[in-house]
Amino acid sequence: MDLRSDTVTKPTAAMRQAMVEAEVGDDVYGDDPTVNALQDKAAKLLGKEAGLFVATGTQSNLCATLAHCQRGDEILVGDKYHIFRDEAGGAAVLGGVMMAPISTATSGAMLADDIAAAVKPDDAHCAMSRLLCLENTVAGQVQSVANIDEMAAAGRAYGLAVHLDGARLMNAVVKLGIPPAEIVDAVDTVSLCLSKGLGTPAGSVLVGPTDFIRRAHRIRKLVGGGMRQIGIVAAAGIHALDHHINRLADDHANALRLAERLAQVKAIHVEPDLVETNMVFITLPDGAADGLRAHLAARGILLGGGARQIRLVTHLDITRDDIDLLSEEIFQYFA
Ligand SMILES: Cc1ncc(COP(=O)(O)O)c(C=O)c1O
Repeated sequence: MDLRSDTVTKPTAAMRQAMVEAEVGDDVYGDDPTVNALQDKAAKLLGKEAGLFVATGTQSNLCATLAHCQRGDEILVGDKYHIFRDEAGGAAVLGGVMMAPISTATSGAMLADDIAAAVKPDDAHCAMSRLLCLENTVAGQVQSVANIDEMAAAGRAYGLAVHLDGARLMNAVVKLGIPPAEIVDAVDTVSLCLSKGLGTPAGSVLVGPTDFIRRAHRIRKLVGGGMRQIGIVAAAGIHALDHHINRLADDHANALRLAERLAQVKAIHVEPDLVETNMVFITLPDGAADGLRAHLAARGILLGGGARQIRLVTHLDITRDDIDLLSEEIFQYFA
């Protein structure tokens, strides 16, 4: 039982079958029909003109930021967002693009006023503010349509383009019960990961206007991301979009069930009210985390790292029975 992340899922038998049967071609020539079908499908689903299949979420965000920005430009981004904290500073390292972090609330949102205040004046001393990066979900927290619209409008008022890191966008879609295209209507470009809750072995899709995707395609080549008969993997993505979106509701129910159970344990601080999708954050007394992790690991249960706070993520390979078994193990450990 592995709760470290929703990236640990293994492809289902049906997904593997779809991969085996995929029609393929050389995608560097644009000849892979399965890749083309996935790109079109994702673009349509998200209400944008075109799509680009890429290896990872990090590569997707890198292609996006570099297609939006030139050297000397600046990205405004939440200080807790993946693009700022967890992508090796790719836009800065490879693109000469500066990142200006904006304070992110527990809800995952940035304040419109903070966005406005972070935009630099047209002054030779300053980098040129060019792009606003949003994220949804943020550590499992859903950003509502109104929220996204407000943040995007704050950037647009200063002429910024808006990119959304939607690594777990479909968790937000299922939670809100709103069509994906409506949620991302206010943003220009979206990166969607297929290998998180959607359960494929690899791959993300970047969507946006046709000319933007053409530039992103060149950058994908630049970073060595042009792949050949990659329809084998794209087939998993099509299968996931067809079969694995609605079932995310099970992961959300399991996360809530886990949080409600663990709230009964005195040594654990957890707020079930904050569990919106598939992530539960528990806080333990000083020095207790390593002991709990080791105890559970010895029983084949893996938890995420962290000195006091541990993230537990539900996904395709975690059942309701697993949640009950895990809760029981934790009750016994602290009994
Ligand atoms: C919010 C967010 N964006 C982007 C990524 C990057 O995805 P990848 O690991 O496929 O590069 C992750 C990975 O966990 C993520 O959580």
